[in-house]
Amino acid sequence: MKIDILTLFPNMFDNIFNESIIKRAKENNLVEINIIDFRKYSLDPHQKVDDSPYGGGAGMVLTCQPIFDAIDDIKTKNSKVILLTPSGTPYKQKQAYDFSKEKHLIIICGHYEGFDERIRTLADYEISIGDYVLTGGEIPAMVIVDSVTRLIPGVINEESHICDSFNEDYLLDYPTYTKPRIYNNMEVPEILLSGDHKKIEEYRKKEAIKKTKEVRPDLRGE
Ligand code: ADE
Repeated sequence: MKIDILTLFPNMFDNIFNESIIKRAKENNLVEINIIDFRKYSLDPHQKVDDSPYGGGAGMVLTCQPIFDAIDDIKTKNSKVILLTPSGTPYKQKQAYDFSKEKHLIIICGHYEGFDERIRTLADYEISIGDYVLTGGEIPAMVIVDSVTRLIPGVINEESHICDSFNEDYLLDYPTYTKPRIYNNMEVPEILLSGDHKKIEEYRKKEAIKKTKEVRPDLRGE
């Protein structure tokens, strides 16, 4: 998969994709990630990319021209364009799965007070990563790239994400433990040491339901 990220702050991405699982996915050619400074598409003599809003109001607004020209340059028939905005559709694991099956994602990071409304016509998806306002779309882009890349076949062991929280069965992950068996007087539940796989599976399911009811009753429509 190829992912192009359009941003005005390319340095923000300096290290994030050069560590751990994403780094390995890149090295194994499972994903190609390009950080593109869309200021380079600006036709303004000073490479301006924003302007004051018509009708007045605080702050600056991203103008159409650099982003339209950038998309025109990099979009192909296999591309899906994602616009990041706090007023987009809330991002969910299901959407991450769907994105992980695409060939080419183009992610537009907004910044400043927002973008010219006409930029929305370029987007196949408008996505928000949560009900809070960040300074720009860069951190949301990192969230999307991370969550999508780990789902690309071959990036991690499939078993690791089949049991992820938020999968189709709408349960949070069950609690897991590792050695030592007792730490600061806290003991690993006996059943996990029993070797009885059927019982362990039942226990995990029960714990996952309990945790989901406590923390995220909304996931089960309760
Ligand atoms: N840009 C600013 N805040 C955002 C959010 N919550 N999600 C996506 N893009 C954003």
